[in-house]
Amino acid sequence: MTRVLVSGATGKLGAPICAGIAAAADLTLAARVARSLSGGDGFATVAEAVEAARADVLLDVTAPTAAEPHTLAGLAAGIPVILGTTGLGEDGAARIDAAARAAGLPVLQVPNFAITAVLMMRFAAEAAKVLEQCAIIEEHNPAKVDSPSGTALRTADLVEQASGRRPEISSLRLDGVVANQSVIFGTTAQTLELRNVTTSREAFVPGALLAIRQIGTLAPGLHIGLEHVLA
Ligand SMILES: NC(=O)c1ccc[n+]([C@@H]2O[C@H](COP(=O)([O-])OP(=O)(O)OC[C@H]3O[C@@H](n4cnc5c(N)ncnc54)[C@H](OP(=O)(O)O)[C@@H]3O)[C@@H](O)[C@H]2O)c1
Repeated sequence: MTRVLVSGATGKLGAPICAGIAAAADLTLAARVARSLSGGDGFATVAEAVEAARADVLLDVTAPTAAEPHTLAGLAAGIPVILGTTGLGEDGAARIDAAARAAGLPVLQVPNFAITAVLMMRFAAEAAKVLEQCAIIEEHNPAKVDSPSGTALRTADLVEQASGRRPEISSLRLDGVVANQSVIFGTTAQTLELRNVTTSREAFVPGALLAIRQIGTLAPGLHIGLEHVLA
């Protein structure tokens, strides 16, 4: 039984992930972290939680300011970390990579837990080797803080690596949208559109559970992308 510590457990993403862990026969919820749980049946920080509860994996889905201290506290306690929080920045990523290597533990940063989004990126990189024109349109709820999305930036990186050309990104913020993205390729008299659509945050649960089950297979250091644990 893998014991999972979830920080951001009460959030729009953390709550369905906790429900998924509770429903899985091979996983158990070791403790929940959110400031609003402090003094109740949870902890305000990961540092407090690891003092009180034994965990095998930490999954953080909080906010950019909390993600780094939570990850470092998990590593200091000897726990591999899955980082689903977005907007960390390059400096934070470098510090986490150094801490993970020093601890001899993996950290898996996952910009998008949706398995269809990860496959969309993989197929986009493949198409970019052949098709010369590419554009990305990403659509999210107006509440999303970062723009363009981490997934759009990662897709643009992969297309650029494959083709040498960086695609233009258009960001739409619309009520009613959870997280959608189209990658459109054009060439003579034909286009190819790869489109990922999520209809609820349940879409992120299978990928989060996959990351929890597979993180132990990764080498020490920071790894970026669910593709590291997707066959
Ligand atoms: N990787 C993916 O596939 C994916 C998908 C969707 C969203 N995200 C990212 O996941 C993160 C969370 O998104 P969300 O929509 O779930 O946000 P949310 O609904 O605002 O939830 C945030 C959660 O983190 C806790 N939290 C916030 N700041 C904290 C702090 N300083 N210390 C301890 N706990 C803190 C909140 O509880 P309290 O306020 O009570 O502390 C709450 O439980 C964001 O970075 C978002 O961009 C990633």
